[in-house]
Amino acid sequence: MNIANPFTPTFGITPQYFVGRDKILSTFMDGLKVKTADARRMLLLSGARGVGKTVALNALENTAIDNGWLVISETAIPGLKNRLVMEHLPTLLSELDPKAQIKRITGVQIPAGLGGVNFHTEQKYVASPSLRSQLTTLCDFLGKHSTGLVLSIDELHTGALADLQEIAATIQHLFREGRPIALIMAGLPENIDKLLDAPGITFLRRAQHEVLGALDYESARLALELPIQSEGLMWHHDALQNTLEISRGYPYLIQALGSCIFDAAMTLQQRELTLELVKTAAESALTLVGMNVHRPILRSLSDREQAFLYAMAQDEGFSRVSDIAQRLDVSSNYISQYRIRLMNKHVVYSPVHGKISFAMPGMREFLRRNKVQVLPMWEEKS
Ligand SMILES: Nc1ncnc2c1ncn2[C@@H]1O[C@H](COP(=O)(O)OP(=O)(O)OP(=O)(O)O)[C@@H](O)[C@H]1O
Ligand SMILES: [Mg+2]
Repeated sequence: MNIANPFTPTFGITPQYFVGRDKILSTFMDGLKVKTADARRMLLLSGARGVGKTVALNALENTAIDNGWLVISETAIPGLKNRLVMEHLPTLLSELDPKAQIKRITGVQIPAGLGGVNFHTEQKYVASPSLRSQLTTLCDFLGKHSTGLVLSIDELHTGALADLQEIAATIQHLFREGRPIALIMAGLPENIDKLLDAPGITFLRRAQHEVLGALDYESARLALELPIQSEGLMWHHDALQNTLEISRGYPYLIQALGSCIFDAAMTLQQRELTLELVKTAAESALTLVGMNVHRPILRSLSDREQAFLYAMAQDEGFSRVSDIAQRLDVSSNYISQYRIRLMNKHVVYSPVHGKISFAMPGMREFLRRNKVQVLPMWEEKS
């Protein structure tokens, strides 16, 4: 048996079977179908690492393309506005409407033969069309054909704040003018929070904000079942149940589990996915999640936030905030600010008042296994 692994435990790659998120997709599609500018055309997705923001953006982009809209797909890293003005928009405009006047700065030609008698000066100062004028031309052209433009921006971050402010202001104008434009964006919760607190971004605050969480049970089951069926393999009922429980509906872990279980089956040359197989493969899948999700999350946290999580990892199930405070030898009031910060970053959640738990599967075990060890240098001489 030599079958390619149908799972994709990577980031940003649309899986063979994209499942769930139906409401988000259908609401967006309805927003595109109406004749006037519609609030459903401004969408902001946030959610923890690996929850599926990028692939949801991909699915929204595909929805738009299927409905005849054009898409510009970008990332909020510095240079965003320049890439729009100098690359994406001129390319689309010249492809669609060769008559549209696209003028780029062609540079300034300095006088040839400086100091000579017969030099002549040729200067070409050609105004660079603004973001607004290019978007207006493009939207007007598309509007005549009953379609429009979707601007998709992933990994929102204040690192590109100036560009995002200008883009937001420009799109706000086009939106008010009733032009066919949509803006879909995604980012990590802490980055979105910072961005929405920044000045000059009011328009983005009005976007429909969807928080992505776990896939629902049925979607998670399909995400594991469909790729296996398509390769002619078969899940044992208890094996599938157990895999679903381990995944807790977390999309990256679903792909990681599927991938590791599939590899284990291939190694043993078996077409049936059994509980034994799941038990051995789950360990590798959780290691992948540890390396690619838990470790980067922990690195991005402050020392105190980390200390809070290590204190939580001592508990088997939910932790009580009062216990954490006691373990860290601080007051419950003081520790509460860290609880809130970690909740805002989607690292912990609170099912009932006073209790908290890890939002992501496997993080407790990762913390237990990877206790940060501080090895001191020579003792200070007093
Ligand atoms: N709806 C879905 N159906 C099936 N698999 C999914 C779905 N959403 C996400 N996945 C899988 O989960 C993994 C992570 O998805 P994605 O890269 O979109 O996450 P992300 O939220 O953008 O992460 P990051 O914050 O690191 O950018 C990928 O392997 C992807 O295939
Ligand atoms: Mg992403």
